Amino acid sequence: MDIENINVKSSIGVIGTIITTSESRRGILIPTLHKMQSENGYLPGDLLRLLSKKLSIPLAEIYSVASFYKQFHFTPRGKNIVRVCTGTACHVRGASKVVHALQDKFNISPGETTEDLKLTLETVGCVGCCGLAPVVTVNEGVVGAVGPKKLKGLIHDIEQEGEDHGKS
Ligand code: FES
Repeated sequence: MDIENINVKSSIGVIGTIITTSESRRGILIPTLHKMQSENGYLPGDLLRLLSKKLSIPLAEIYSVASFYKQFHFTPRGKNIVRVCTGTACHVRGASKVVHALQDKFNISPGETTEDLKLTLETVGCVGCCGLAPVVTVNEGVVGAVGPKKLKGLIHDIEQEGEDHGKS
Protein backbone atom coordinates (compact mmCIF):
# COMPACT_ATOMS: atom_id res chain seq x y z
CA MET A 1 0.00 0.00 0.00
CA ASP A 2 1.25 3.45 -0.95
CA ILE A 3 0.86 5.22 2.38
CA GLU A 4 2.41 8.47 1.06
CA ASN A 5 -0.30 8.99 -1.55
CA ILE A 6 -3.28 7.66 0.35
CA ASN A 7 -6.35 9.87 0.02
CA VAL A 8 -7.85 9.84 3.47
CA LYS A 9 -11.10 11.50 2.38
CA SER A 10 -11.91 9.00 -0.37
CA SER A 11 -10.60 6.08 1.63
CA ILE A 12 -12.69 6.53 4.73
CA GLY A 13 -15.34 9.02 3.61
CA VAL A 14 -16.95 11.35 6.13
CA ILE A 15 -14.67 10.26 8.95
CA GLY A 16 -11.68 11.14 6.77
CA THR A 17 -13.12 14.58 6.07
CA ILE A 18 -13.62 15.19 9.77
CA ILE A 19 -10.10 14.06 10.55
CA THR A 20 -8.45 16.12 7.82
CA THR A 21 -10.49 19.22 8.66
CA SER A 22 -9.63 18.85 12.31
CA GLU A 23 -5.96 18.36 11.46
CA SER A 24 -5.92 21.50 9.27
CA ARG A 25 -7.46 23.57 12.04
CA ARG A 26 -4.90 22.32 14.52
CA GLY A 27 -2.16 22.83 11.94
CA ILE A 28 -2.79 26.56 11.77
CA LEU A 29 -3.15 26.99 15.54
CA ILE A 30 0.51 27.56 16.42
CA PRO A 31 1.30 29.87 13.46
CA THR A 32 -1.81 31.88 14.38
CA LEU A 33 -0.70 32.11 18.01
CA HIS A 34 2.71 33.35 16.82
CA LYS A 35 1.04 36.04 14.71
CA MET A 36 -1.20 37.12 17.59
CA GLN A 37 1.80 37.26 19.90
CA SER A 38 3.88 39.32 17.47
CA GLU A 39 1.03 41.76 16.81
CA ASN A 40 0.03 42.25 20.46
CA GLY A 41 3.15 41.34 22.40
CA TYR A 42 1.09 38.69 24.19
CA LEU A 43 -2.00 36.52 23.67
CA PRO A 44 -5.06 38.54 24.77
CA GLY A 45 -7.83 36.41 26.29
CA ASP A 46 -10.58 37.88 24.08
CA LEU A 47 -8.61 36.97 20.94
CA LEU A 48 -8.00 33.47 22.24
CA ARG A 49 -11.75 33.05 22.81
CA LEU A 50 -12.41 34.29 19.27
CA LEU A 51 -9.79 31.92 17.90
CA SER A 52 -11.40 29.07 19.82
CA LYS A 53 -14.74 29.79 18.14
CA LYS A 54 -13.25 30.26 14.68
CA LEU A 55 -11.23 27.06 14.77
CA SER A 56 -13.77 25.06 16.81
CA ILE A 57 -11.00 24.11 19.18
CA PRO A 58 -11.85 24.20 22.91
CA LEU A 59 -10.37 27.23 24.68
CA ALA A 60 -8.82 24.93 27.29
CA GLU A 61 -6.98 23.09 24.52
CA ILE A 62 -5.67 26.35 23.06
CA TYR A 63 -4.42 27.43 26.48
CA SER A 64 -2.88 24.02 26.98
CA VAL A 65 -0.97 24.26 23.67
CA ALA A 66 0.08 27.88 24.19
CA SER A 67 1.22 27.39 27.77
CA PHE A 68 3.43 24.49 26.70
CA TYR A 69 5.67 26.93 24.81
CA LYS A 70 7.63 29.44 26.85
CA GLN A 71 7.55 32.08 24.12
CA PHE A 72 3.80 32.65 24.49
CA HIS A 73 2.59 35.06 27.14
CA PHE A 74 -0.90 35.71 28.49
CA THR A 75 -0.33 39.14 29.99
CA PRO A 76 1.07 42.35 28.45
CA ARG A 77 4.86 42.53 28.29
CA GLY A 78 7.14 45.45 28.98
CA LYS A 79 8.86 47.46 26.26
CA ASN A 80 12.13 46.33 27.81
CA ILE A 81 12.44 42.61 28.45
CA VAL A 82 15.30 42.27 30.92
CA ARG A 83 16.55 38.76 31.58
CA VAL A 84 19.13 38.23 34.28
CA CYS A 85 21.15 35.08 33.75
CA THR A 86 21.22 32.99 36.90
CA GLY A 87 23.34 30.18 35.48
CA THR A 88 26.23 28.94 37.57
CA ALA A 89 28.90 31.38 36.33
CA CYS A 90 26.58 34.37 36.67
CA HIS A 91 25.31 33.18 40.04
CA VAL A 92 28.88 32.96 41.33
CA ARG A 93 29.61 36.44 40.02
CA GLY A 94 26.65 38.12 41.68
CA ALA A 95 23.55 37.62 39.51
CA SER A 96 21.33 37.65 42.59
CA LYS A 97 22.54 41.16 43.45
CA VAL A 98 21.50 42.28 39.96
CA VAL A 99 18.08 40.64 40.33
CA HIS A 100 17.52 42.19 43.74
CA ALA A 101 18.61 45.63 42.57
CA LEU A 102 16.14 45.51 39.67
CA GLN A 103 13.39 44.12 41.88
CA ASP A 104 13.90 46.85 44.45
CA LYS A 105 14.16 49.64 41.90
CA PHE A 106 11.08 48.69 39.85
CA ASN A 107 9.10 46.98 42.62
CA ILE A 108 8.45 43.80 40.67
CA SER A 109 9.55 40.18 40.97
CA PRO A 110 10.99 38.03 38.19
CA GLY A 111 8.18 37.08 35.81
CA GLU A 112 6.36 40.38 36.39
CA THR A 113 5.91 43.57 34.37
CA THR A 114 5.79 47.12 35.70
CA GLU A 115 2.41 48.83 35.55
CA ASP A 116 3.75 51.41 33.10
CA LEU A 117 4.90 48.55 30.83
CA LYS A 118 8.47 49.83 30.76
CA LEU A 119 9.99 46.61 32.06
CA THR A 120 9.41 42.89 32.23
CA LEU A 121 11.94 41.22 34.52
CA GLU A 122 12.86 37.58 34.08
CA THR A 123 15.59 35.20 35.16
CA VAL A 124 17.03 32.68 32.73
CA GLY A 125 19.53 29.84 32.71
CA CYS A 126 22.91 30.18 31.01
CA VAL A 127 22.72 32.33 27.90
CA GLY A 128 26.02 31.04 26.57
CA CYS A 129 28.51 33.80 27.32
CA CYS A 130 29.73 32.79 30.77
CA GLY A 131 33.03 34.63 30.27
CA LEU A 132 31.06 37.88 30.55
CA ALA A 133 29.32 36.95 33.81
CA PRO A 134 27.20 38.32 35.29
CA VAL A 135 25.16 38.69 32.13
CA VAL A 136 21.89 40.49 31.49
CA THR A 137 20.01 40.54 28.20
CA VAL A 138 17.88 43.54 27.34
CA ASN A 139 15.54 42.75 24.49
CA GLU A 140 17.93 41.39 21.82
CA GLY A 141 21.08 42.87 23.33
CA VAL A 142 23.59 41.33 25.73
CA VAL A 143 25.17 43.29 28.56
CA GLY A 144 28.13 41.56 30.19
CA ALA A 145 30.11 42.12 33.37
CA VAL A 146 27.16 43.88 34.99
CA GLY A 147 28.52 45.67 38.02
CA PRO A 148 27.06 48.62 39.94
CA LYS A 149 28.00 51.17 37.25
CA LYS A 150 26.47 49.24 34.34
CA LEU A 151 23.44 48.41 36.42
CA LYS A 152 22.91 52.09 37.17
CA GLY A 153 23.15 52.88 33.44
CA LEU A 154 20.77 50.05 32.61
CA ILE A 155 18.22 51.30 35.11
CA HIS A 156 18.58 54.82 33.76
CA ASP A 157 18.00 53.58 30.19
CA ILE A 158 14.91 51.63 31.22
CA GLU A 159 13.52 54.64 32.98
CA GLN A 160 14.11 56.65 29.82
CA GLU A 161 12.10 53.99 27.96
CA GLY A 162 12.45 53.16 24.29
CA GLU A 163 16.22 53.42 24.14
CA ASP A 164 18.12 50.69 22.35
CA HIS A 165 19.98 48.73 25.03
CA GLY A 166 22.93 46.40 24.82
CA LYS A 167 24.03 47.23 21.31
CA SER A 168 27.06 49.30 22.25
S1 FES B 1 25.98 31.23 33.37
FE1 FES B 1 25.39 33.20 32.71
S2 FES B 1 26.05 33.22 30.65
FE2 FES B 1 26.55 31.23 31.31
